[in-house]
Amino acid sequence: MSERIRVLLDEETVDQRIREIAEDISREYAGKEIHMICVLKGGVFFMCELAKRITVPVSLDFMSVSSYGDDTKSSGVVRIVKDLDQPLEGKEVLIVEDIIDSGRTLSYLLDVLKRRNPNSVKLCTLLDKPERRVVKDVNVDYCCFNIPDEFVVGYGLDYAQKYRNLPYIGVVEFDEE
Ligand code: IMP
Ligand code: MG
Repeated sequence: MSERIRVLLDEETVDQRIREIAEDISREYAGKEIHMICVLKGGVFFMCELAKRITVPVSLDFMSVSSYGDDTKSSGVVRIVKDLDQPLEGKEVLIVEDIIDSGRTLSYLLDVLKRRNPNSVKLCTLLDKPERRVVKDVNVDYCCFNIPDEFVVGYGLDYAQKYRNLPYIGVVEFDEE
């Protein structure tokens, strides 16, 4: 089997939308500082593009999580592979994600991070697949695009670790050979 990538959201469309979201965020956090937390690895391209366009002061930190095996996945328990370097006490935290699918990862992460006493926690995602949501309590504050239930790559998102560097969002299509 080989795969092809069909463009879903081209580079200009993604860039334009990130600019809009960055303006919204800059306006809503006027007079404050934002502590942006990138969920590795998928969130890294989006985080950089977004951070460059935010006009209030930002600091950055990174976290890496992985889901436990399929059996325990339904419990929503994820393992912290790399924790944050800095404390969150009193900070305005903005979590930056590539995509929200079932919502399990974010639900767990929100729970963990809120217990570290930040002043506020908001969530910003490049993509959301609302049809796929299993955990209903994940409140998305900023979303660039709602997309249909298709497997996408590019702009940080991978298929078997490939395609993260595509400057657009594409759908993976498989050809039978
Ligand atoms: P959730 O816990 O089900 O919301 O899983 C979210 C994670 O699954 C994302 O951070 C991605 O790493 C991965 N994921 C979900 N959908 C896609 C997709 O369409 N392409 C690539 N990765 C995806
Ligand atoms: Mg992710």
